[in-house]
Amino acid sequence: LSQIDLDARYTLAQELALAAARQGKTRYNERAKLTIEHKNNDFQDVVSEVDRQLEDLIRQTLAKRFPEDGFVGEESGAAQLSARCVWVVDPIDGTACFVNGLHSWCVSIGMMIDGVPCVGAIADPNHDELFHGCIGRGAFVNNTPLRVSQASDIREGLTGVGTFHPSGKENFLPFLQKLLADGGMFIRNGSGALTTAYVAAGRLIGYYETQLKSWDCMAGLVLVAEAGGRRSDFLRGEGLLQGNPFLVAAPGVYDQLARMIGPSLDED
Ligand code: IPD
Ligand code: CA
Ligand code: CA
Ligand code: CA
Repeated sequence: LSQIDLDARYTLAQELALAAARQGKTRYNERAKLTIEHKNNDFQDVVSEVDRQLEDLIRQTLAKRFPEDGFVGEESGAAQLSARCVWVVDPIDGTACFVNGLHSWCVSIGMMIDGVPCVGAIADPNHDELFHGCIGRGAFVNNTPLRVSQASDIREGLTGVGTFHPSGKENFLPFLQKLLADGGMFIRNGSGALTTAYVAAGRLIGYYETQLKSWDCMAGLVLVAEAGGRRSDFLRGEGLLQGNPFLVAAPGVYDQLARMIGPSLDED
């Protein structure tokens, strides 16, 4: 890590997440004017002009400051993936909430070095929360350190789940059934990045999604590790570009949740 200016990148990630979230909030307050499209003819998969504009802002700022770094973004795709530092960005995570006037959305900026998640910044302008973390330096919400839950049984807290993906129907509904049968409870807020941050913060005991994308969770993966949580091997195989099943949890309940999910969690 010696030749890489980690400090400058960690600071920029936070500044940029906050700046984009601030702009996003202004547009959110005027959302009646927005143009909204559906991706792939899927009525639940929405995108607005704000998603694209914020990604352009983030991508251009990063390229100006660190032209040698790589980039992966939900709206504009990937470039320079052979670089040591690769930024992984979701300009608005929780777009369905954003367009419907629900407060659960954020800007998520992650960065990996040599394939290892190293920096994460998740800005939630509706709750004035900036979740941020850096490898070896801890994770925080604003200035408060994050720590995962001490729970030792899934009955002791709430488990986050993601959206229903048709590809995951063999896994999602059976998981919910087992979770409920064992006395757990699920919750879904519409933002994978925030759900991951809430696991790091100990507000949720775990989070499972049958198929997540790297821009949803790169920042959160740093937070969870720094807050003492466990993570599935999300980046294995084509995880960076194609996604993978995703589980993060407090160490006391990780195995219990992983057993409910079964082998699909780690299989390619
Ligand atoms: C979605 C959200 C959602 C998760 C989906 C994501 P988007 O991201 O993170 O919580 O369950 O898998 O696609 O489209 O709002 O950026
Ligand atoms: Ca999307
Ligand atoms: Ca997302
Ligand atoms: Ca998004």
